[in-house]
Amino acid sequence: MNPTHDDIDTVMISEEEIQRRVSELGRQISVDYAANAPLFVGVLKGAVMFMVDLSRNVGLPIELDFMAVSSYGQSTESTGVVRILKDLDDSIEGRDVLIVEDIVDTGLTLRYLLENLLNRGPRSVRICALLRKDKAKGFAPPIDYVGFEIPDRFVVGYGLDYAEQYRNLPYIGVLRPEVYKRP
Ligand code: IMP
Ligand code: MG
Repeated sequence: MNPTHDDIDTVMISEEEIQRRVSELGRQISVDYAANAPLFVGVLKGAVMFMVDLSRNVGLPIELDFMAVSSYGQSTESTGVVRILKDLDDSIEGRDVLIVEDIVDTGLTLRYLLENLLNRGPRSVRICALLRKDKAKGFAPPIDYVGFEIPDRFVVGYGLDYAEQYRNLPYIGVLRPEVYKRP
């Protein structure tokens, strides 16, 4: 048993709900991209679990690449400062790119990423995000595929972390308030 389960106050989205929705998204993407298999660009590290499960539900000869950006540091609030920590391995010129992201909070990270990738001459760029918070709608670029709309709470699990912990929980949950008070 994973001891970090004990730090979870409530489960917002269960493992079963996530897997059901991810397979729906995979089917939809398989239909939409039937003519041209896309390059999945996963945003490290939060999108890793989602990217793995989603890609296994897509019946097309897709390719996978990753970028790492930093916008948060150890804080739970977005600062608006985005840095590329790891870039793509290959050019995306002429490619159909699908950005795979864990969560859209303020939307600043995605806005930056989208602009950055569009400058590299891809044929198309679409966005798939597992979660979108309520407040994101005004600021974020249009999201082509959204797994779940969620209330504006800080969540962990299924790739999402707090201080690098909880990524390996199989569900999306809300932490107990006392966890944030630990030194
Ligand atoms: P944004 O730029 O404010 O949209 O923030 C996006 C990034 O912040 C996401 O890709 C996550 O890595 C992180 N983030 C935003 N909200 C949460 C959360 O509730 N839990 C964990 N990480 C989050
Ligand atoms: Mg992220």
